[in-house]
Amino acid sequence: MCGIIGYIGSDDARKIVTDGLLALEYRGYDSAGITYCTNDPSHPVKTVKTTGKVMNLIEKLNDHHEDLVPFSGIGHTRWATHGGVTETNSHPHSFGNVTLIHNGIIENYRELSDKFAGEGKFPVSQTDTEIAAMTIDSFYNGDAYEAIQKASEVLDGSYAFCIIFSDRPDKIYATRKNSPLIAAHCSKGSFVASDIVAIIDYTKDYFILPENYIAELTADNITVYDTSGNIFNPKTIHVDWDIAAAKKGGYEHFMLKEIHEQPDAVINTVSPRIVDGLPDFSSDNVPDELFRDINRIVITACGTAMHAGMLGKYMIEKYARIPVSVDIASEFRYSDPIVDKHTLVIAISQSGETADTLAAVKLAKTLGAKTLAVVNVKGSIIALESDHVLYTHAGPEISVASTKAYTVQLSLMYLIAYKTAMVNNLMSDEEAAAKTKSLTDSVRNMKKVIDMDEELSYITQKLKKADNIFYLGRGLDYAIACEGSLKLKEISYIHSEAYAAGELKHGTISLITDNIPVIAFATQDNVYSKVISNVVEVRSRGAYVILITKSGEHVDTTLCDHHITLPQMDEEFTPFCTAVILQYLAYFTAVRRDLNVDQPRNLAKSVTVE
Ligand code: F6R
Repeated sequence: MCGIIGYIGSDDARKIVTDGLLALEYRGYDSAGITYCTNDPSHPVKTVKTTGKVMNLIEKLNDHHEDLVPFSGIGHTRWATHGGVTETNSHPHSFGNVTLIHNGIIENYRELSDKFAGEGKFPVSQTDTEIAAMTIDSFYNGDAYEAIQKASEVLDGSYAFCIIFSDRPDKIYATRKNSPLIAAHCSKGSFVASDIVAIIDYTKDYFILPENYIAELTADNITVYDTSGNIFNPKTIHVDWDIAAAKKGGYEHFMLKEIHEQPDAVINTVSPRIVDGLPDFSSDNVPDELFRDINRIVITACGTAMHAGMLGKYMIEKYARIPVSVDIASEFRYSDPIVDKHTLVIAISQSGETADTLAAVKLAKTLGAKTLAVVNVKGSIIALESDHVLYTHAGPEISVASTKAYTVQLSLMYLIAYKTAMVNNLMSDEEAAAKTKSLTDSVRNMKKVIDMDEELSYITQKLKKADNIFYLGRGLDYAIACEGSLKLKEISYIHSEAYAAGELKHGTISLITDNIPVIAFATQDNVYSKVISNVVEVRSRGAYVILITKSGEHVDTTLCDHHITLPQMDEEFTPFCTAVILQYLAYFTAVRRDLNVDQPRNLAKSVTVE
């Protein structure tokens, strides 16, 4: 969702800011804008905005030739919430001395708007952001810190702001509450951004602006003030991937590149947590006690991360015999959850920014639960907010559709399951070592499935024409079916549903008619024959069946139109391979439909609103 970048320094700020906006495109947006400052005494602060893509903004800027090199600028990609997708509603918004960009939602903007109307002040846009600009301006008497501080006492909701005061364009101010914002200073100047991807061309070292603190950026340095106005020295974070990781690297789409990166991502995530062959989280400062003295585990997450949680539930319950519930984060909050100090709440998130998951973590903490985050983005809000964190090491995931972040989440859920079983004396060291080895070995099979791209692409010739597609599975395969259906919907725009295969006959089988594609996963021995019976049921109603099994299964060829065989493997690890299959099916279907695979309509990579 909304992307923010601010820069002040020796280089062309217009160029640095628009490059940053291009890098932030992956977050999802529908309009873009920039404010930049030059030494032009008659007109130092200029704003250009547009609906649509950042390239539209760049073309528009090309019509505004500047003889003077812009030395500072703030840029924004907007994902519309309050007010439609119009140029007027795009950021930056200006009022009086204040020009700002914003990620988040000002919840009390109506009340504030009414108050300003009573004073004869009216916004030109329909946005909550302009009301924030009006609020900061109303407190501004030449002291930027004081104006921002006072405004933050009045503004409810979430925000990351980047602000220029027109009478002091040699500085940029930034603050945040419940929305992400990082900052960095290097030889080129000072930066502030929604995430490191926007500025990775210039620096790998950054810091997270603490909540409600205010950063003052000049070309020479960044000063951070705490809520009492004292100077605060933030801790620097270093990213261990470089710019190449955030580029397509010869692949047609980021999603395809990220599918291919999965084996390495899983190894990078798992290997540092294996010591003497056993799962070990001590280098993450996650103590074994966290998994002891608990009588319940709640996994909370959204979308794909939640599907990783579903697989985690199977694994933890199977080996550690502790009841696990998987709660959609946006529901957990409002469900009066049964959580106490004997509950471990595991929050899973790629971005570490998802507002619903963050809110769930905060609630769990107030209820006394222990919290553990499984997060990909280092230093993200969910990681900071949780008692403990296990970082996945997928590197930057740019495509909106999550792929490698999902499989690394899975790999950690497996390790957590083995660890929990071990510390509760339900798994011997020998068994845990064997399981851990099989987990790392499963990467070889993943690679084999990644090489099945031609076969899987071929199958999508049929899928691309479908209006509805069903995914079936039982046990681990049901969780995989859920992820398969989500992935297909989000990038191919084909309606699809995932069903626990045995549940279909309780209603939904009425939708199965001639030629409806049904993708059935049958990789689990204990339910294999049951899933096959369910396949027979849909087949006899005319379904076009794609059946996925382990190698060695004797499949009656009249049962399906396509039979996909996984490499030889232990059934526990098939999700690492079936995940690749479902990703390819969605990917090739979307490509055949000529859709924007990496930036599907209406979707945002980081969902920072509730
Ligand atoms: C689907 C997808 C989303 C995310 C969800 C949670 O491909 O990417 O469903 O999984 O929005 O996002 P994170 O993991 O960042 O909390």
